[in-house]
Amino acid sequence: MNRREFIKGVIALTTAAYISPTIVFGAENLRWWQEKSIYQIYPKSFLDTTGSGTGDLRGVTSKLDYIKSLGVGAIWLTPFYVSPMVDNGYDIADYTAIDPRFGTMEDFDELIAQARARDIKIIVDLVFNHTSDQHPWFLESKSSRNNPKADWYIWRDEKTNWRSIFGGSAWQWCEERQQYYLHTFAKAQPDLNWENPKVRQALFDAANFWLNKGAGGFRIDAIVYIKKPSQFVDGVVDSEDGLSSIHNIIAATPGILDYLREFKEKVFAGKDIFTVAEANGVKPDDLSAWVGSSGVFNTLFEFSHVNIMFPRGVEIWHRARLYKLSEWKKTLTDSQAATRDSWYPIYFENHDRPRSIDTFFPSGADKILVAKALATILFTLRGTPFIYQGEELGFGNAKFKSINDFDDISTRGNYNLARADGLSDKEALRFANKFSRDNARTPMQWNSSKNAGFTSGKPWLPVHEDFKRCNVEVEERDADSVLNFYRKLSALRNASDVLISGEYAELYPDNEELYIFTRTLGDKTITVAVNFTTHDVKLPAPLNGKKILGNYADEKNYLRATEAVIYES
Ligand code: NOJ
Repeated sequence: MNRREFIKGVIALTTAAYISPTIVFGAENLRWWQEKSIYQIYPKSFLDTTGSGTGDLRGVTSKLDYIKSLGVGAIWLTPFYVSPMVDNGYDIADYTAIDPRFGTMEDFDELIAQARARDIKIIVDLVFNHTSDQHPWFLESKSSRNNPKADWYIWRDEKTNWRSIFGGSAWQWCEERQQYYLHTFAKAQPDLNWENPKVRQALFDAANFWLNKGAGGFRIDAIVYIKKPSQFVDGVVDSEDGLSSIHNIIAATPGILDYLREFKEKVFAGKDIFTVAEANGVKPDDLSAWVGSSGVFNTLFEFSHVNIMFPRGVEIWHRARLYKLSEWKKTLTDSQAATRDSWYPIYFENHDRPRSIDTFFPSGADKILVAKALATILFTLRGTPFIYQGEELGFGNAKFKSINDFDDISTRGNYNLARADGLSDKEALRFANKFSRDNARTPMQWNSSKNAGFTSGKPWLPVHEDFKRCNVEVEERDADSVLNFYRKLSALRNASDVLISGEYAELYPDNEELYIFTRTLGDKTITVAVNFTTHDVKLPAPLNGKKILGNYADEKNYLRATEAVIYES
């Protein structure tokens, strides 16, 4: 029995004997998705093998060894299904076919096979709140009020004042039916009617299709919006456009869990798969009904730490507020506490957020140190770290000169709302640059050649101007690069029972300069300390242990600007 197995055995006994029976994941029964990190790929921007300017599935397959080198156990692929691409694939016109832009079903099969050979699972995205308005289901539904799919979407004679998440009314008039349909996101993304059992079954069939193809699980999109309130009434107007944010009206409507339990029963139950749901608006108190063995999903992405700057979590960018470090730390500590008996997906970036190095530290901070400091937290909180493509290289936000340079539909919606609220073009553009999702969607930077090695054609979104300094090839060669720091952290976490399973505790929660926490398992403790300022900060008290990794080579008895240190004792 090696040391790790021994510790697992001890924990198993302790868990069984002393810890509340609600504990779901003792170290003794860790699952594959808890032991390694997950790498998120936005295929459109990852690697183009055809010269089309758009990334594809073969591009992903060709980089599996690079992905493996990050110590990850799974890849989350954002949508690659047939889509008109109004929302870059989150508007799906066929749930079980590959969009030709991304390749063929054979390419997908090959990806699964090649990934499996490297012990990497492929997690696919389920977008079940809505389809594309070009989906055959919607084309049929809109054709009349009495066709077989007439009630597969949400149709009403009257509209309410709800504002869609991408801006503008959440209702769109349909001439054929002389009715409005609801769209939580873009008007090209009509919401499905989950009240209809046939709709639910069709969606569950689509999910099972991908499991039969060998997918290792699902990231489930926008799931909090599937259940609509029983009455459709106007909300409180919250902007000069006279509308009311739909998120506040429909997120996590009571009764939603009935649908989700059916989803679990018909798709996930009894299978060795991983499920992570996108769930903006689920409160920590409700978590046990959503995740863990008593819940529906293995875990869920909540937004409290990434949306902390937006009042009530509603992403109206020009309403962003300043917040204190203690508030941000509290969101993480609360999430750690709420998932103590289940599991947490740790993330700072994805395809919907600006780059983290330009978001969570003061603007004057050294970006390489910041990238390493955030990575330190990413790999040492309790949960599965999610790395978003480019984050491991220290990608920063892009610079867009005009609103017309953005591709993202939500950026235009947010910009228009800012203008409606009286901001000038320059001010509205400043917020768009800070928060646009396109910041995370610029092409992956592989080397210093033309278009950063992403494509031989014209990239669908311009490559970041910094690509010659920040790319895989350059960082591979630099032992001190952000990329190599990620590799060290990932290896450290993968081999550490303390980091995988240890209890989390925050120290000095009121400190507005430092984030310090411990992870403890048995008699071993790992302490993590990060300086969130751009100056030296004294430690409140000496920290226990020997330094095992940090973003400065040497060690002081205080923390330097943006310093992050991991101590072991
Ligand atoms: C969340 C996805 O991550 C985002 O990219 C998309 O625009 C919306 N859901 C709508 O599907």
